[in-house]
Amino acid sequence: MRFCKIVALVVVAATGLFVVACGSDQPDSGTTTTSAGSADGADLYNQSCAKCHGVDLRGTAKGPSHLSIVYKSDHHSDDSFRSAARNGVGAHHWDFGDMQPVEGLSDADIDAIIAYVRTVQEREGFEDYPPAP
Ligand code: HEC
Repeated sequence: MRFCKIVALVVVAATGLFVVACGSDQPDSGTTTTSAGSADGADLYNQSCAKCHGVDLRGTAKGPSHLSIVYKSDHHSDDSFRSAARNGVGAHHWDFGDMQPVEGLSDADIDAIIAYVRTVQEREGFEDYPPAP
């Protein structure tokens, strides 16, 4: 229970939205297998994407910012996120190198990650591309 509370607080702090009912059983997501047992997009993003794309989504030395205007949904659709997670992606916008496929995510996990990214994009707005020096 305590862990749930902490997760809930982190989610509220991170997104400003309470998107997950912690402890609810999710009948349709039997394939969800995260250690926390939840399909929360922020947690999944932090586990699977943040080491390259940053906990604040603003990128690291290993990967680009998802708040760059190139990752707006009209240029990188939700399907391009699905494909990147499933198949990886060759370097083409940046000099970080290729992105490898990310293992161990269900379709529901990836959808939750995309929803989280879109929420943060909407809240924070976009950075220029190419980035200002
Ligand atoms: C090991 C580092 C690494 C991890 C982990 C990682 N990425 Fe990436 N990702 C990259 C790099 C590097 C690029 C930039 C490729 C380029 O030059 O356009 C990228 C690009 C992308 C793109 C753009 C795809 C395109 O079509 O241009 C998306 C979307 C993306 N990542 C989503 C994710 C998601 C979602 C996760 C977590 C499930 C994730 N990435 C995890 C390194 C990573």
